[in-house]
Amino acid sequence: MNGFSSSTVSNVAFKVGLLGLGTVGTGTAKILLDPDQRQPLLRDLQLARVGVRSLDKPRSVDLPAEVLTTDLQGIVTDPDIDIVVELLGGLEPARTLILEAIAHGKHVVTANKAVIARYGEEIFTAATAAGVYVLLEAAVGGGIPIIQPLKQSLGGNRIQRLLGIVNGTTNYILTRMQREGADFAAVLADAQALGYAEADPTADVDGLDAADKVAILASLAFGGRIRRQDIPTEGIRSITAGDIAYAEKLGYSIKLLAMASRANHDCLEVRVAPTLVPHNHPLASVNEVNNAILVEADPLGQVMFFGPGAGEGATASAVVSDVLNIAAKLAAVPDGKPRVDPLLGCSHHHYAHIAPGSESHSRFYLRVLVDDVCGVIGHLGTSFGNHGISLESIVQTDIRNGQAELVVITHDVREGDFKAALAEIEALAMTRELSNVLRVL
Ligand code: HSE
Repeated sequence: MNGFSSSTVSNVAFKVGLLGLGTVGTGTAKILLDPDQRQPLLRDLQLARVGVRSLDKPRSVDLPAEVLTTDLQGIVTDPDIDIVVELLGGLEPARTLILEAIAHGKHVVTANKAVIARYGEEIFTAATAAGVYVLLEAAVGGGIPIIQPLKQSLGGNRIQRLLGIVNGTTNYILTRMQREGADFAAVLADAQALGYAEADPTADVDGLDAADKVAILASLAFGGRIRRQDIPTEGIRSITAGDIAYAEKLGYSIKLLAMASRANHDCLEVRVAPTLVPHNHPLASVNEVNNAILVEADPLGQVMFFGPGAGEGATASAVVSDVLNIAAKLAAVPDGKPRVDPLLGCSHHHYAHIAPGSESHSRFYLRVLVDDVCGVIGHLGTSFGNHGISLESIVQTDIRNGQAELVVITHDVREGDFKAALAEIEALAMTRELSNVLRVL
């Protein structure tokens, strides 16, 4: 007997078809098969069919043999299935199966940020026409509830800015670089050996996964579709142990930040970039594989959502919350089809305009190698001044073989002006190398 009051819809059973029995699929199946002491509505859900690539693979979850199938298309077209849970990952066949499920009147739950960020318009247009839900709590922040809060709990607010650490792999790598003083390549190799980073780490370390996620978050927070390709995206490959150490000395941690804000009434700033975060900022202490999303909203102020951004149980928790949301809507109209609740469904019909990178504003960090000669700092200051760039600090961090390494931090400036100043500095006779440029929160 569980600790909740008894279910009000115990005679109704909703059939779930699960596509994929990898890490998250396995976690989802485990919850659906073990409802004790969880939300009573779980007892009304039946894991009817599970689509897998191979029937012979050993599994850590016990499923009746007749539930498993390699016929994924058979699941999305099965008239008995009410809710299709897509946990295959990757673009295809996930996109096609989601569209087919919608065309067959199924509600869909997915953790697939890549498909939603790229094909959201196609999928949500089809879902609206079919009158079905497509829910995606697990697509951003793993187990952290952030999609439903943006759709519902924060609905009375005007969102001003979102700042997030939304990729666990890069946060793990940066945390270890900071703790161990190690370089990116060495930590990445170790993270791969330990299973924290994929064999092909591109989507994570180049910021692509974080860009998929911020596209989804920005769309929900600011009410417009986002063209994924318009998001300026930088990864963490260029970060050195030196950058981390200099940032630390200046009072910052380096984090891969996803950011979205309203630049003006019809234009957003959205980007992914490694960023120096002041030690006293709440995101600076989000370490290891954890994720966090800080929402700045009027009138709420700041609220931060923190927790495990990936993993079997955490992500399955988010998947099952979506399944339950749909089941609750179905349970409310046992004899018919629910009208799509506008707070749960998609209501976007236009694309938001994203400001080009050159128009965005930020503080910047520059690490530059120059000849150790008289007046070099003055020349640098003049070049910045020529483009209206005001400096917060210049620190000489190292002198070796007649060359000095300088670290410059600017005030908040227009990126286009900063880049123009950089071009001028690069052309100075005394400049040896522009070693790295990062943003500063
Ligand atoms: N590759 C992702 C990460 C998994 O590292 O955060 C969760 O989306």
